[in-house]
Amino acid sequence: MSLIELKHVSRSYTMGDRSFYAIKDINLKLEEGEFVVILGPSGAGKSTLLNLLGGMDSPTEGELIFDGKDIAKFNDNQLTDYRAWNVGVVFQFYNLIPTLTAYENVALMKDVRLQSSKKSIWNKGNIPVVPPEEAIESVGLKERMHHFPSQMSGGEQQRISIARAIAKNPRLLLCDEPTGALDTNTGAEILKLLQDMSHRDGRTVVMVTHNDDCVEIADRVIRVKNSMIQSDEKIEAPKDPLIFMDNKQE
Ligand SMILES: Nc1ncnc2c1ncn2[C@@H]1O[C@H](COP(=O)(O)OP(=O)(O)OP(=O)(O)O)[C@@H](O)[C@H]1O
Ligand SMILES: [Mg+2]
Repeated sequence: MSLIELKHVSRSYTMGDRSFYAIKDINLKLEEGEFVVILGPSGAGKSTLLNLLGGMDSPTEGELIFDGKDIAKFNDNQLTDYRAWNVGVVFQFYNLIPTLTAYENVALMKDVRLQSSKKSIWNKGNIPVVPPEEAIESVGLKERMHHFPSQMSGGEQQRISIARAIAKNPRLLLCDEPTGALDTNTGAEILKLLQDMSHRDGRTVVMVTHNDDCVEIADRVIRVKNSMIQSDEKIEAPKDPLIFMDNKQE
């Protein structure tokens, strides 16, 4: 069974007396552990699609099946529970809380999972949270654990935001232009981490990017255009972002 299946998923908006589709009739299956890159022009519907996958928004039509459950039918409380157990998110501008240390930022997200209802439908008793120290160690920043965001570089802040995203131990990691604010080398390190989250840790990682080079490092590339999927391609031998980006610069 696929981790996620979208069946005729649309998201329309009504503005005044007009309505339009941000995402239209998407059919898609995402597998456990896949590293998926989503490309497409501005306004194509990439972030809308990511928000639907993450339960931050709901489809206006269609079914969105995660682990056998149609989250398109979920109310706000059910979506909160869905996100708390299953979804980690990374954004372009990190969104760390400036008055909390790296450790505290990460610990907070772990607590989101722990505080979510003991009666959660996702609680099968076998999904431990990732301790903040461990999450931070996995992004290589153990020695910076007690620093504030303002004391860290952009790349370091993005690492911490990845540590925060995985603290819930989510099966799905969603990233919206995670390297958009970083230089090529720092970006490559972030891409390597995200690839590891998929290939090493078995999470499903879905990353929206404007960087065409990312077609070389993903397991699968989906191009979105005019609210629809234009192409969906498997990559046979994804490259290591560190080696690949290094070679490109020479
Ligand atoms: N909350 C909203 N209300 C109204 N329209 C919206 C809303 N969110 C997105 N849209 C519209 O839906 C379309 C798709 O937006 P989306 O943010 O998904 O594009 P995108 O592919 O992520 O673009 P970019 O690369 O610029 O981030 C756009 O026309 C956008 O203006
Ligand atoms: Mg976007």
